[in-house]
Amino acid sequence: MIRSVITGTGSALPAHRVSNAELAKRVDTSDDWIVERTGIRFRHIASPDETTGTLATDASRAALAAAGIEAQAIDLIVLATATPDQTFPATATKVQAALGIDDCVAFDVAAVCSGFLYAVQVADSMLRSGAAKRALVIGAETFSRLLDWEDRTTCVLFGDGAGAIVLEAQDSADDGGRGILASKLHADGRHNELLYVDGGPSTTGTVGKLRMKGREVFRHAVVNLAAVMEESLGLAGLTSADVDWVVPHQANARILDATARKLGLPAEKVVMTVDRHANTSAASVPLALDAAVRDGRIKAGHVIVLEAMGGGFTWGAAVVRF
Ligand code: UT7
Repeated sequence: MIRSVITGTGSALPAHRVSNAELAKRVDTSDDWIVERTGIRFRHIASPDETTGTLATDASRAALAAAGIEAQAIDLIVLATATPDQTFPATATKVQAALGIDDCVAFDVAAVCSGFLYAVQVADSMLRSGAAKRALVIGAETFSRLLDWEDRTTCVLFGDGAGAIVLEAQDSADDGGRGILASKLHADGRHNELLYVDGGPSTTGTVGKLRMKGREVFRHAVVNLAAVMEESLGLAGLTSADVDWVVPHQANARILDATARKLGLPAEKVVMTVDRHANTSAASVPLALDAAVRDGRIKAGHVIVLEAMGGGFTWGAAVVRF
């Protein structure tokens, strides 16, 4: 049986880090409010020469080095983003060119904060079908470019960054049962007006700004995330008692706590990076994964659950034996 195994992780953050106190000089907010309501203390903000494509390329280089393979060995790049460098072509092709890969399949996936989960399922399906052997799966965003810097209800919540994994097709007989064990995705397009960007090439002809009814998104997030985690664990034939680590989308520390509580998981098993990265949309899960792999918390053989929910709404989870 062929399984998709994570053989390397990497991430990249813009050099410029912004504290809550610095934001409080621009909008009517405070460090206390942001920390208490969200858990966020810092976010990284891209400079004009840092783009979704450059961050994705840096994260990919780190993931390739961790996997111990050359870029030329990659035959598939799936990049999740809502903030591409250009409306077209896909930012994945910019990463391909920057890495010097002569020929591969390369495309973007748009599912906002759930984008990395969507990209993982697409890449996993292509690897298991034999369409590709070694994939780079990337979540990369420059959400700072979409923010209304006068809207305190949104501009304090987001940051920029990128995370990447190398996913390789391996025979499960050789790898001790490692790999993606199950994944489940959902979408419910009725909730567009709760989280969206008020522009686009086919409507206003502008890039637009992010708009969110945060309290309502929060309510849906906890319910949907707990349900899809249980669903994907069930598909893998596991329960929450088998989980070593949850690697969630980092939107709000209170969402992470509430979701873990609903599943009866102790907070110590939840990887939390929202304090230092804020919400980086599609980048947040692979950024958190890379942090926990590099600091030694996540080890080979651990059962991890990746999960995310975002605009659309879209949401999903994946169960992986690392
Ligand atoms: O990644 C995609 C998924 N996104 C999410 O999961 C986000 C989900 N939502 C959230 O994380 C939270 O709802 C927020 C962090 C966005 C907001 O927290 P909340 O506890 O739901 O606050 P609220 O929106 O109910 O606002 C409470 C008060 C309001 O004042 P009034 O109306 O009670 O006087 C806001 O105007 O806090 C005020 N407020 C702020 N005050 C200081 C809103 N933003 C700020 C701010 N600084 N930045």
